[in-house]
Amino acid sequence: MTVPTPTVAPATGRLGVLTVGLGAVASTLIAGVELSRRNMSEPIGSLTQMGTIRLGRRTDGRAPLIKDFVPLTPLADIVFGAWDPFPDDAYVAAQRAGVLDGPRHLEAVAEALRSVRPMKAAFDPYYVKRLDGPNTKGAVSKRAMLESIREDIGTFRDANQCDRMVMIWCGSTEIFIEPGPAHQDLESFERAIDANDPTIAPSMLYAYAALLEGVPFCNGAPNLTVDIPALTQYATEHKVPISGKDFKTGQTLLKTVLAPMFKARMLGVAGWYSTNILGNRDGEVLDDPESFKTKEESKLGVLEHILEPHKYPKLYGDVYHKVRINYYPPRGDNKEGWDNIDIFGWLGYPMQIKVDFLCRDSILAAPLALDLVLFSDLAHRAGIGGIQEWLSFYYKAPQVAAGLYPEHDLFIQLTKLKNTLRWMMGEEQITHLDIDYYLKT
Ligand SMILES: NC(=O)c1ccc[n+]([C@@H]2O[C@H](COP(=O)([O-])OP(=O)(O)OC[C@H]3O[C@@H](n4cnc5c(N)ncnc54)[C@H](O)[C@@H]3O)[C@@H](O)[C@H]2O)c1
Repeated sequence: MTVPTPTVAPATGRLGVLTVGLGAVASTLIAGVELSRRNMSEPIGSLTQMGTIRLGRRTDGRAPLIKDFVPLTPLADIVFGAWDPFPDDAYVAAQRAGVLDGPRHLEAVAEALRSVRPMKAAFDPYYVKRLDGPNTKGAVSKRAMLESIREDIGTFRDANQCDRMVMIWCGSTEIFIEPGPAHQDLESFERAIDANDPTIAPSMLYAYAALLEGVPFCNGAPNLTVDIPALTQYATEHKVPISGKDFKTGQTLLKTVLAPMFKARMLGVAGWYSTNILGNRDGEVLDDPESFKTKEESKLGVLEHILEPHKYPKLYGDVYHKVRINYYPPRGDNKEGWDNIDIFGWLGYPMQIKVDFLCRDSILAAPLALDLVLFSDLAHRAGIGGIQEWLSFYYKAPQVAAGLYPEHDLFIQLTKLKNTLRWMMGEEQITHLDIDYYLKT
């Protein structure tokens, strides 16, 4: 089936970016954008800012920057807003998170950071057990929370003269919630809000408020949030882009590169043990078993989908996969992730691979958040609503249409992303068939 090329409206005016949560990731994102737009630093890790895209034949030599190929909002036109149960502005939040160097990266943009003061959060400690801050909407009903978030969006839009907006969840990981009856259709969802049903988490209220206001929503955490039929249907019908779940930054990023390699070479996997030490607030929240369960589900799904044990039982039928996250305060945001991978080759001979990734969590996550908001806004201007599977590249547990399995292989995800951009702009798809280079005409 050929899908007609959409018309993409230009990125004129200001784009309001609302982050739910003003913690390590959000404050690092805001500081980085402020520094980049003043040409004081480079937006490293961001495909929208640094990536190129090949167009046409390999011999054509056409490979523009992605930001010159598709009409993306320039960084200078972004205005940030946020919600958080802690009242700290983005400057204080960044200082507390301890990700960026104060003299080098915070002082230069201190004024811009101080101007981002969090709105009162729709927060309920039942969903994030390890936190409790004073800057909340209080213990009001779910309906009142929803209406108040909608009001916040409208007030922010007017006060900052935004032409368009995007909301991104950079908030904590909530307790594990399974899809249930309240999530199946909009009527049930609405009724559950009125009944203060515990399966309606605050993140769902933010997402629903965004959709009702025609604002695309991205989910950087593994929470169920917008990955429920009631909200995906609404987003599709009203042409509002949604995507999730859980930024793919450290260990899972490596997993989705290594596992496809084992499969490509038909090497077997006997076990994969992954453990992390992490000392930021995210690590503290994940120390709660109920929040960890949400994260664990998101991290565990990857191998099963990539290795497809049902197709290759001799290679992947009995993989022992374990994921651990240990809260260890001295490391702050500088996570250390270890992987021990037991693989086997020709005639079953065993081998081992050890990975020790000394990463910086929010340094890896911030560029993903930037790309997600810019691409979601692009999709919105192209009239493409509902689940944005082409943004799977950014997520550990990509949201896909019912009946589809998620594509986890990082390079298939990148091909999908770039082919979507080519399609949007009426350029040919690149299939890598390339036989024509060798055929005499
Ligand atoms: N590499 C990464 O950093 C990475 C990767 C994947 C996913 N994530 C996820 O991204 C999220 C943010 O990570 P972080 O390191 O910035 O965490 P953080 O703890 O520094 O920030 C999260 C903020 O969200 C706030 N919050 C919690 N509930 C809220 C609510 N209902 N409304 C508004 N604000 C709320 C908290 O007060 C906190 O300030 C976490 O869920 C984390 O699991 C991070």
